[in-house]
This record gives sequence, structure tokens and C-alpha cells, in this order.
Amino acid sequence: MDSKEIRKKFLDFYKKRGHTVIPSASLIPENDSSLLFVNSGMFPLVPYLLGKKHPEGKRLTNSQKCFRSDDIEEVGDMRHTTFFEMLGNWSLGDYFKKDQLNWIFQFFTEELMLDPKRIYVSVHRGNKEKGIKKDTESAEIWKKLFQKKGLEAKDVDFSEKKGMQGGRIFYYDDKKNWWSRAGVPEDMPVGEPGGPDSEVFYDLGEDLKRHENSPWKNKPCHINCDCGRFIEIGNSVFMEFLKTKSGFKKLSQKNVDFGGGLERLAMVCQGETNVFLGDLFLPIIKKIEEISSFKYEEKARSFEIIADHIKAAVFIIGDEKGVSPSNKGQGYFVRRLIRRAVRHGKQLDMFSLSWTKEVAEKVIEVYRDVYPEIEGNSEFVYKTLEKEELAFQKTVEKGLKEFAKLKEKKVIDGERAAFLYQTYGFPIELTEELAKEKGQKVDKKGFYREMEKHKNLSRELSAGVFKSGLADKKNKTVNLHTATHLLLSSLKKVLGESVSQKGSNINTERLRFDFSCEKKPTEKEIKKVEDMVNETIKKGLSVKKEEMTIEDALKSGAVASFKEKYPKNVSVYSIIDEDGSVFSKEVCSGPHVKNTAELGRFSIIKEESSSAGVRRIKAVLKEKDKN
Ligand code: ALA
Repeated sequence: MDSKEIRKKFLDFYKKRGHTVIPSASLIPENDSSLLFVNSGMFPLVPYLLGKKHPEGKRLTNSQKCFRSDDIEEVGDMRHTTFFEMLGNWSLGDYFKKDQLNWIFQFFTEELMLDPKRIYVSVHRGNKEKGIKKDTESAEIWKKLFQKKGLEAKDVDFSEKKGMQGGRIFYYDDKKNWWSRAGVPEDMPVGEPGGPDSEVFYDLGEDLKRHENSPWKNKPCHINCDCGRFIEIGNSVFMEFLKTKSGFKKLSQKNVDFGGGLERLAMVCQGETNVFLGDLFLPIIKKIEEISSFKYEEKARSFEIIADHIKAAVFIIGDEKGVSPSNKGQGYFVRRLIRRAVRHGKQLDMFSLSWTKEVAEKVIEVYRDVYPEIEGNSEFVYKTLEKEELAFQKTVEKGLKEFAKLKEKKVIDGERAAFLYQTYGFPIELTEELAKEKGQKVDKKGFYREMEKHKNLSRELSAGVFKSGLADKKNKTVNLHTATHLLLSSLKKVLGESVSQKGSNINTERLRFDFSCEKKPTEKEIKKVEDMVNETIKKGLSVKKEEMTIEDALKSGAVASFKEKYPKNVSVYSIIDEDGSVFSKEVCSGPHVKNTAELGRFSIIKEESSSAGVRRIKAVLKEKDKN
């Protein structure tokens, strides 16, 4: 069964059970800066999990592009990838544990024909302090499901010492069986939803305890131990809690958020025990074998890193909101992915120039039917990869030689690491990886101190981004969101109708807006745009919301920035000028203010180039003028 069939079967299965198939959102979050990348299917659905009405109803399903920067270091263990596709289904305050577990078990065992004997599950063990009950309800549902397949399923408390204990259902704590975008309860910002979950694992076979150096080698195995025997293939999150200042409270509705990695399901269905041998990776691995003089088995880790990183780079660069390599934010990850791949290319003797393009062509071939945007943007993808690869190829060799000179040192000091970064383009993580391979350490703090001195580094890595609560600061972001609509309309009126949105990112402090524009706007034009937004604010125009089909929305002249990506029914926000003309009309999921007078004074603080043909504006809203 190939991945296309699995994807289709999943969506059809949930369609039959009343779910609407919604499109995959962009990898780059829209109006939500809690993380740099969409890391799960639920990410674009957060407002609806919190209680907002979704135009497509209470049952949704899709296959979502995801990128998890946290997993970058894990790639190379035959199962982790940074980019992956997540098959998901959601109940927005509709069905709950019983239907969810019944359906997913049915899907796995009767559609994908997985052997129930090889399925194991985990549930949440509860936490009195947080007011979260032991999830015996899910355990009981699972028991019955296994029983129907003739299996006596015992539920046991996970114990590191006791291992499997003859169990099939295991209770784990928050570290393993709690899910939120920010991770464990302690890391969640106020206003973030989360909940206990129940994961499904597949037994790849006892002989697969393959990590010779792993900490689990001589320990009893359990389903979450990562020794290689079990692999997680699905996670049902019972999302019913909201983080508050003092702990947790129940959300107004009980939600289900299910996600399963397509690459892993493909692997299992295709009888493989390695994700990179499944059909979403194998053609890419083969391509690398063609370019390199090595076979996959000889240098598996480097092969996996190259295959994963170039795939991820293709999807991020080729996204509807394409991102180019840079020294901060999302762009920094693109840079890191490409440079790390190029460095591993050296290990595989991949000396030919522009090999990244050849690998990218294969990635696009594998995915073109499902994600047409990467094919549509292929020229931009190839050019961007080529440029970054060539720039780094020029210096990587010399940089590696320079690094080799440091072999006597136990610790690479900050100054050295900064030198490698500035002179040879080595991201700090690359220096760290090289050091680790040689048993050396890097003084990372010293590196940042050094870079600070040179005033060269302004990165917003994902770890630091998720620090302030979303709901707390909601008003500020809603204001900026409406201001973004006024900004786009004003840009079109001043610079011409061909201006279109390329990306939008809002945090509590500012809005950032990327738009297509062939030439640099003059200062006068920018001032005119700013004035126009402020005039509209002063007029106190009301913001009107309507629901309609995407076709009607487009017919009515509403601006839709990512046309092919909308569900059937959408919300349209209009701002009508005093003379009755439409000032702004956009397809958008909101939320927005009721009246432009709520916004305060709009000020553009920066206008700059973002990438070829794309300009970037940063703007803020200040307190209203007193006079
Ligand atoms: N959002 C859940 C996850 O990513 C389903 O595991």
C-alpha cells in the first residue's frame, strides 16, 4: 500500500464518518507567532479548539505539512524526520474518547490491515495536583477493542525497572502522555490548550533492539523506550484543558485532536522497519546514492540527514509563503538545513556542484500531485538552494580544515566558534555537531557573547518564541490583525493592484507583512500608505463579517491570498468607507476588531527587502493621540 493510498483511505474513512476534508495550511504560521513553524495538524485550528465556530463544522480531517525543528538532532536514527505529513482528525466539541479510539483502531486494523497483536497503547496516569484523572476510561475502551480481536489486554503502570510486565496498555505521566504545542504542562503559556493523550505503538519485532549504544541496551524494554522495537504511529489527544495563571481549567468544549505520521504509517504498511525505506523517502535515498559514491547502508546517518533536510528545505522555500535562507527566524532554519546537508554531502563525497538541486527535483517528483505549490515554486526553490549551496561550498572545506586544527582543545571557545561562523558560515549548531563527533565541547554562551559584541546576531529561535501567553495579549494581536488588512488595501491603492500578500506574522508588539512588489517603494509612497491607514482608523469604520463559499467570496471581489488553500466555506471581513465604497474585503479566519477606531495610531517602523521581488514592512500601533 503506497502513501497515496494510505492518505486517501484515511481521509475517506473520516469523510464517511461525517468529517469535512480541509486543506493543509502553510508551514509558516499565519497571524500566530507562538512557534516559527506549523508543527502539527491542530496548529491552524487552535481558535476552534478554544471554542470558535469552524465554518466546516465540528468534524474535520486533513493531511497537514509539519516541520519540527526540535527533532533536527534526532534525524539519523531511521525514524525521526524534521518535515513530515500528519494525518489528522478533529472533533470540535463533538465526539470524544469512545468514538475516537474505536475509529482509529478500526482504521489501523481493518483499513490498513495492521496486526492487532502488534499494537500497544499508552494512556495518561493522571495527576492529582493538576486535577487530572487517571485515564481508566480510555484503558477500558482499549481493553474491549482488543478483546474483540481475541486479545486479553492488561493495563499496567509503566515502570522503568519492570518493563513490559505482560501489558498491552500502559499508564505514563505528563512527560509521555500529555500533548500541547508547547509540550508538557509546565512549558505551556497561559491561554494555550492541551490535554492527556493516548498513543498507539506498533511492534516492529523484538530483534530490533538495535541501538547498541543506547541507554536502553541492557534495560527492560517498554513501548516508549526508543530502543527501536516500538514506533509510535498515532496520537489521540483529548484536548479539554486550558492553561491558566494558577494551573488548568476545563475548556468550554471537549475536543479530540488526532495525529499520525504518514511516513511512519507508510513504513509499517510497506513492511519496513526504517522510515527512510518507505515510499516517501526511498526514491530520494536512491537519488543520493546516484550522486554519491556510497551506498545508503554504508553511511546511513548522512544519507538520512541529507534526504530529510533537503526535503524540509524544499517545502519551506517552496511554501505558499516561501522563506529564503537568512540569519534569523524561519530563514535561519532553512540556512541550517541546507548547510548541514552540504556538510554531510562532503562525508558522502558529493562534490558535484548544485547536487542539492538534483535531490530537490526528486523531492518535488515524489510530492507534486499532493502539494502542487512546491512544483509551482520550483524555480525559486532551485535558485535558492543553489545559491546557498554554492556560497557554503566555497567556505566549508576551509572551515573544516580550520576546525581540524582545534583537535587538541577540549572546549572550543566562543571566539573560535564565532570566527567559524563569521568567516566560514558555520552555524553554531554545525560547530557543535562537529565537536560532538570528536568528543569536544563548545562554549555556546561565549559564542553568543562574542556575536553580541559584533552586533551581528538577532535570531529568534523557536525555543524563545513560545514564552508569552497568546490569550493574555490577545487584544493587541487582534488590533494588529485588523491593521494588517488596512495595510494591504492601502498598499494596493498606493502602489497598484498587483501588490499581493506574501506573508504575515503578528506578535504582541508589531505586525510584519511581506508583499510582492517589483521595485522599492519610495519614502513618499510609504508615508502615503501610513497616512491612509491612519485616516481610515480615524473615520471609525465598522468591520463586517460574513460567511460564504470560497467561490462566492472570490466572485464578490474579496482578496484571498492563498487561493488554492481555502476550505469550501469561509469568513469574509469587509471594511466599508464613508462613501459606501469597499476599502478592504478579505477572506480571513479572523478575529478582528468591530470598528477601526479601536486601533490607535498606526506607524510603519521599517520597510525593507525580504527576498527577490518581495518587500517587508514592520509596523506598530501606538496609543491613540490625545488631541
Ligand atoms: N497534535 C497531536 C500530535 O502532534 C495529535 O501528536
